[in-house]
Amino acid sequence: MATLAISCCTSMIILLLLLELLAQVEARAFFVFGDSLVDNGNNNYLATTARADSPPYGIDYPTRRATGRFSNGFNIPDFISQQIGSQPTLPYLSPDLNGQRLLVGANFASAGIGILNDTGIQFLNIIRMSRQLDYFLEYQQRVSALIGRKQRRELVNRALVLITVGGNDFVNNYYLVPNSARSLQFSLPNYVEFLISEYRKILIRLYKLGARRVLVTGTGPMGCAPAELAMRSSNGECSAELQRAAALYNPQLDQMLKDLNRKVGRDVFISTNTQLMRNNFITNPQAYGFSTSKIACCGQGPYNGLGLCTRLSNLCPNRELNAFWDAFHPSEKANRLIVQQIMTGSADYMNPMNLSTIMALDSRT
Ligand SMILES: *[C@@H]1O[C@H](CO)[C@@H](O)[C@H](O)[C@H]1NC(C)=O
Ligand SMILES: *[C@@H]1O[C@H](CO)[C@@H](O)[C@H](O)[C@H]1NC(C)=O
Repeated sequence: MATLAISCCTSMIILLLLLELLAQVEARAFFVFGDSLVDNGNNNYLATTARADSPPYGIDYPTRRATGRFSNGFNIPDFISQQIGSQPTLPYLSPDLNGQRLLVGANFASAGIGILNDTGIQFLNIIRMSRQLDYFLEYQQRVSALIGRKQRRELVNRALVLITVGGNDFVNNYYLVPNSARSLQFSLPNYVEFLISEYRKILIRLYKLGARRVLVTGTGPMGCAPAELAMRSSNGECSAELQRAAALYNPQLDQMLKDLNRKVGRDVFISTNTQLMRNNFITNPQAYGFSTSKIACCGQGPYNGLGLCTRLSNLCPNRELNAFWDAFHPSEKANRLIVQQIMTGSADYMNPMNLSTIMALDSRT
């Protein structure tokens, strides 16, 4: 009797494990590239000042611990993972990312990086874009060893990819200091053109590495971040310079993605208009249940926009009321609203299609 009970349970467990493995293979993998808006904690493993691994970061995360996400709770990749029915992606540098967990995907993003290699040099050791792509190749070699090359190629081709980069090329490069090297080298329109041409190379490499569905976000309304209100604005108006940069950059990014799609002959790159999504909260915070879109929840100085968010900072009691968590990053609630638009937004937000449509299309092929 006893042995029978054991063998029944053992086979049940094996069956459950097999089902779980199948579910992981069936669920779509998710890969994330970019900067602090999407970093799930890679920088925790690096010698850099760009990190979010101490309180009050993570105060509303399920574990109530700082994870390296630049949010009070979940970030944009977390909400996308939830929508596609996956576990959150682990940071690529996490020692826990091995075995079957590799099949869920991986997060290669690193706070502080930009399109250009010289963006974020003040943060020292961070994973620049070309290195993130090198790691993606290395990841694929590890997955091939696990499930074979053919299956690996399928996993990567079927995956959803998110890339969020570009804001730091303005904030932490061109506009970092007056008369920065890049601002002496380029006029703003020429700098934007240069960024777009460098970004194009990155996306082509991503395509060559097998990515076939890539959500590409533009920059947000950078001039309206609490940091910029604190440093560049006298009456709480958004910084005109940075708004001009976003207004030049985003339409050219959109156009570049259209051209790339035409070149590869399919809708690989999805233009994700985070500028418009976030402008909605900024122009009418109350409509989204926020009490303010100017004042960061965590920080100090005007608009809580100066310096870093630390234990010593001001901290708002109700994080659902602030569109910004810290001087640069959206709150968990804002991230949730952004991902709702990614899922169901009209063509103004998601071009040529939203994520619901992508999921419906791809499940049929
Ligand atoms: C950035 O750095 C990488 C690695 O050092 C190099 O391969 C790449 O060409 C650089 N990109 C540019 C635009 O200089
Ligand atoms: C997604 O986009 C399509 C096309 O723009 C639109 O018709 C649809 O209502 C959007 N939402 C959902 C949930 O598909």
